[in-house]
Amino acid sequence: NNHPNLSYEGRQGLVMDGTSLTDIAREHGTPCWVISADTLRQRAHALQDAFRARNLPIHCHFAVKAQDHQACLTVLAHCGFGADVVSGGELRRALAAGIRARDIVFSGIGKTDDELELAIHHQIGQINVESVEELHRINALAQNMQQRARIAFRVNPDIDAQTHSKITTGRAEDKFGIAHDAIPALYRKAQTDMPGVELVGLAVHLGSQMVTAAPFRKGYERIAALVRTLREDGLHVSDIDCGGGLGIAYRNEQAPPPAMLADVIAETLGDLDVQLHVEPGRWLAAPAGVLLARVIDVKDAARRFVIIDAGMNDLVRPAMYDSWHGILPLNEPDTTTEECVDVVGPICESSDIFARQRSLPPLKKGDLVALLDAGAYGTVMSSTYNSRPLAAQVMIEGDRKAIIRRRQTLEELLVQEAVPDWLARP
Ligand code: LLP
Repeated sequence: NNHPNLSYEGRQGLVMDGTSLTDIAREHGTPCWVISADTLRQRAHALQDAFRARNLPIHCHFAVKAQDHQACLTVLAHCGFGADVVSGGELRRALAAGIRARDIVFSGIGKTDDELELAIHHQIGQINVESVEELHRINALAQNMQQRARIAFRVNPDIDAQTHSKITTGRAEDKFGIAHDAIPALYRKAQTDMPGVELVGLAVHLGSQMVTAAPFRKGYERIAALVRTLREDGLHVSDIDCGGGLGIAYRNEQAPPPAMLADVIAETLGDLDVQLHVEPGRWLAAPAGVLLARVIDVKDAARRFVIIDAGMNDLVRPAMYDSWHGILPLNEPDTTTEECVDVVGPICESSDIFARQRSLPPLKKGDLVALLDAGAYGTVMSSTYNSRPLAAQVMIEGDRKAIIRRRQTLEELLVQEAVPDWLARP
């Protein structure tokens, strides 16, 4: 079972970590996101244990982009996690959630001067530098501020992560990182000739939803070789940031456990005597969250369409990456018969489809369903397309539940807009 946190419990229907999802849908309406602090915490510990078992000196930084709610960041901060942020906004969120500045790393291909100044001002743990140009900018900004920015070079290792092309980041033609053969000369320059920066090491991120060991191994071997070259040149390397990317089994993929990642890191980087960092997002958060929706109607046409009240504006992953999310009715099906349906949202786009030709227990108008593994890259990628207010978010933990983001109202959407006063109302 890929979802040990989900089970049917008689009249309570589908239960997540002890809490009836039907109760939440009744109380807060649909669509509604539910995130389990228990699952988040369990996975955080499982990940740390995998590294601990191999005696690896590792700092875990949660990739905030996957799930940016402050309550989730707080849960992970309690587990000893830092944060990997990609914008000034995420940096402020992480700080607001109580994550210490020195436990924050800042990655991102287009950091503005303002964002860099914010990071330098707070003296965050590490800025991962994406280009020569950015290096010069950071050096100048930090000197102006009479500070030294701790930085690492993000290496583009030119490796194909063998995942969906929209989430592959480590090929030479991708926009990320500094070409690995350009690193040694630049490293020397930064370490000897740039008083605004303290260059501590290298960072690499290969891609996301990676479910095989080979690309991780290849990428980290390249980094290890680079570290040896730099050290032979008398340069100083104390930190390596291994990025994120560990995938999960959305469907029936053979997704490797964190032990695989820890083994690969131990074998490739373990004897370098460096402080290691990882930046996992999806693996931690995806299975901790579900999206609840209600069936608006069942339309019988060329196919049977189950139309639900969540759309691609809520969860865009299927439309954007053709990704597969499990779908479970909240009421335990009383038959083993299934029917082949398309589960679709209400948005006026053909790509607003959650499942094509999926075998599911019979669903009828009014039934509630859960879309699984929606805790990562779900809420954070939502939009208000079709003037659909952002859905509510509920956190559960033990027998407690709390609304952590109330449903946006249409008034809130409208009040942000202004109609120029030269446009007379008709
Ligand atoms: N570090 C860096 C520098 C990243 O760019 C990413 C993800 C991560 C860490 C975290 O990767 P993870 O452990 O979550 O795989 N929206 C897409 C995923 C985009 C991932 C972008 N970078 C999706 O829904 O599949």
